[in-house]
This record gives sequence, C-alpha cells and structure tokens, in this order.
Amino acid sequence: SMTYRIAVLPGDGIGPEVTREAVRVLEAVGAAAGIRFEFVEAPIGGAAVDATGDPFPPETEQACLAADAILLGAVGGPRWDREPVARRPESGLLRLRKGVGAYANLRPVRVHPALAGRGPLRPEVVGGGIDILIVRELTGGLYYGERGVQQEPFGERAYDTMVYTTPEIERVVRMAFQLARGRRRRVISVDKSNVLETSRLWRRVTEAVAEEFGDVELEHMLVDNAAMQLVRNPGRFDVLVTENTFGDILSDLGAALCGSLGLLPSASLGLPGRPPLFEPVHGSAPDIAGRGIANPLGAIASAAMMLRYAFGLEREARAVEEAVDDLLAAGPWTPDIAPPGAPVAGTEDVGRAVARRVRERLAPA
Ligand code: NAD
Ligand code: IPM
Ligand code: MN
Repeated sequence: SMTYRIAVLPGDGIGPEVTREAVRVLEAVGAAAGIRFEFVEAPIGGAAVDATGDPFPPETEQACLAADAILLGAVGGPRWDREPVARRPESGLLRLRKGVGAYANLRPVRVHPALAGRGPLRPEVVGGGIDILIVRELTGGLYYGERGVQQEPFGERAYDTMVYTTPEIERVVRMAFQLARGRRRRVISVDKSNVLETSRLWRRVTEAVAEEFGDVELEHMLVDNAAMQLVRNPGRFDVLVTENTFGDILSDLGAALCGSLGLLPSASLGLPGRPPLFEPVHGSAPDIAGRGIANPLGAIASAAMMLRYAFGLEREARAVEEAVDDLLAAGPWTPDIAPPGAPVAGTEDVGRAVARRVRERLAPA
C-alpha cells in the first residue's frame, strides 16, 4: 500500500513540544486506519543556525522537496534576535515557503461553542458562530521585496518594498474564490487601495477574477476598517483574502476571537508538484517554552489540514477535527483555554487525549 512521506521540522521554543503531539496524532490515525506515514525530521530556524550556521540548510530543503507534505512547529526566539538577517530563524521559514512555492496560506478561524465568551469578546458578539477562512498571500509583498539599511549623515535610512504582480494576485485570489464555493460563497478582499499602488492593482485583479465566479459575492474592504469589523461583527466574514503582511496581522487578531493563538492551524498550498506546508499560526512562544504547557491543538489541527489537503483523507481529517472539538468541550485543557476553576493539563496530556479519541472514532464499528 501507499506510504505518505512527511518532513517534520520542529524548529524552536514550543515548536518541538507541539509538533511531537501532532506526530503522535498522525501515528494514531495511521494505526487506526491502516495508513503508512513515514516521518523524516530535519532542522530549521534557530536550531538549524546552532547546528549548521544556516536557518534553512540544504539537507532540510532536500528533505522537504522529497516529501509529500511538510509539518512545521515554529521558529525564532530572543537568542537569535541580534543575528544578521541571513542567520535569523525567520529567514529560514521565508526561504522554505518560497522554496516550495506555498503562495496561499489558509488560516481558518472558528469559535467553538464551548469557548464562546471565554475570549475577550462578549458571548453575544461571538455567539452567532464565527467561521472565517483567511486566505493570506504568502510568497510576495513586503516579506520578499528589496530591503536595506544605510548610514547617512543624520543617522540611518532603512527601507522595505512591497511588490505584487498580476499573476501573483490572480492565483491566490482564484484559490480564495474556489474555496468560497465550498462555503458560504462570500469573499471579502482586504486592501489599502486608498493609499497603496499594490492595493489598487490587487483590487483590479480581484475584480477580474470575480468575473469567473458569478455565483460568489465579492466585497472590498480597507484593512483598517477590516480590523474593526473583525472585532465588531466577526459573523459577517466568510472568506477573507489579502496580501502577506495584512494577512499576518489580521490572523493573530482572529486568534484572539477564538480564545487562544494556540488553537489556530494553517495550510500553505501552492505550486503543483511541490509539497504543501502545514504549521500552526503561533510562534515559538519563548515565554512558555520548555514548561510542557503549550497548547498543541493548533499543530494537531494543522495535521488534520494535511490529511485533507495533502492526502485527500477527508474521513481521517474529520476524525481529528472532531476529536479536537471533543477536547475543547470536555478537556483536558492547557492553561490558555482551561475554564476558570478547572484542572490544568500539559501539552502531552492533551496530545494523548486527542490520539485516544481519534483511535475510538476511526475504530471499525
Ligand atoms: P508567539 O506566537 O510565539 O506568542 C505570542 C503569545 O501567545 C505568547 O504569550 C505565547 O505564550 C502565546 N502562545 C503562542 N502559542 C501558544 C500555544 N501553542 N499555547 C499557548 N500559548 C501560546 O509570538 P511572539 O512572542 O511575538 O514571537 C516569538 C517568536 O516566534 C519570534 O521570534 C517570532 O519571530 C516567532 N514566530 C514564529 C512563527 C512561525 O514560526 N510560524 C510565527 C509567529 C512568531
Ligand atoms: C507567521 C509568523 C511569520 C510571518 C514570521 C515568523 C516570519 O508571524 O507565520 O504568522 O510573519 O509570516
Ligand atoms: Mn504571524
């Protein structure tokens, strides 16, 4: 039978802690459903800088390109914040994303009923149900434009440039419209077209793409207003498509709506023939790293997205997602989402509990 080969890049801080639990859950899926997963671990980020001097060493790139899918934890941390840009952990992640052509970053934001009202928003704002798919452009814009810093008589001069081309916008917006067809058929495109030339191009291209999708409704929204609307009335969003930097910022805002950044998964899809990339939205969380209390559910839900988008294993993806929902309602909970007064569990307790529920759900009746 077929073997799915997964490159596992744990990275830094809580990255290895949450990735271990996502692998545990995939192993449970494999055992219960008779699917073979092969895991190949490779260093990235600060861990790779320490080991090789390079945050994305050639061996890691080869392991990724030889895999069917990539599972990443998180990179970065205060230890490497003073390194030159080529030795920054984040540079490794950007090279990975570009290297596999992962131009569309899908970040679903859902508020589970068990957590409604536990975040900073009143239950009546989140209670109507939040189910947003943020589609973030991932391989262009400010992250990949020319940048530099120079000495001047008055001090220093630094610059970053935002560049987008028609094809770069077209492909990610088209993906957003396609995904909207499987949902509530509403796309909100977020830009800053009242100021930025790249945003005016974004808007023109988006309108042209919308012509191909007569059955999907398109609305444009300026990014500052979008930030407010996401807090005021999150229920009105279905698919939100936007450029790289805006998507980064708005997805952390989305995380606050759900109760914890530790819950949010992502899938980065792109060029055909290249392996897709799956990573939780959160970072290496230096403030809690090494204590065994990080929430692994974002990483586990990213593994569920891998089952669906990389392997087409829809039944198994659902089993993992339903197991995550079970835990949100019944525990065990890590400290970031534990209800007031409830006992608190660790990263591994949560991973084991999800794996157990996945085995039950996939067991032959
Ligand atoms: P962060 O996402 O690491 O943490 C922000 C806050 O959320 C912290 O209080 C943290 O404890 C909490 N948090 C994050 N994940 C959690 C989890 N799974 N469970 C419980 N709590 C969780 O963001 P930051 O502190 O701004 O950045 C720290 C480092 O991570 C930086 O070096 C940054 O560049 C890097 N980073 C990496 C990625 C990535 O690898 N994809 C993403 C974001 C930030
Ligand atoms: C994310 C992170 C990364 C990004 C950083 C670590 C480069 O914040 O995945 O959201 O900005 O894309
Ligand atoms: Mn981010």
